[in-house]
Amino acid sequence: DTQRTLVLVKPDGVRRGLVGEILRRIEAKGYTLVAVELREADEALLAEHYAEHAGKPFLQPLVDFMRSGPVLAAVVEGHRVIEGFRSLAGATDPTVAAPGTIRGDLARDWGLKVIQNLVHGSDGEESAAREIGLWFPAL
Ligand code: CMP
Repeated sequence: DTQRTLVLVKPDGVRRGLVGEILRRIEAKGYTLVAVELREADEALLAEHYAEHAGKPFLQPLVDFMRSGPVLAAVVEGHRVIEGFRSLAGATDPTVAAPGTIRGDLARDWGLKVIQNLVHGSDGEESAAREIGLWFPAL
């Protein structure tokens, strides 16, 4: 079935000038960009976005990191795109993310409190619907 997923290029990706490279990989795979916006996320949006991580030790450092600069938010569409984008992105930990993936090719561990792994992708249909509603309420 055709799905939509929320993709974020996190502040590390924007700072490093990797927005074009990351969108290129999504488009080259054959997925469709439905909406794209560069914006600064506020605390309230990020608290909702990361609600499932409430209470985890990395939540505050994660929110601070996500507020350290602009984020590129995108809605991406295609058959099985939720799973497909997660496969393009690679494992959360960039040290072990497979070469060929966005994280495996372009990210590394900087020894910080938060894993800086360039991108976020929704992890299921329910979270995709929730996250798209948060970031793109008009869609
Ligand atoms: P993301 O898929 O956006 O979801 C939560 C984010 O928190 C994750 O990517 C990483 O950036 C970060 N993260 C997840 N687990 C850890 C961890 N154990 N330590 C630090 N940061 C983490």
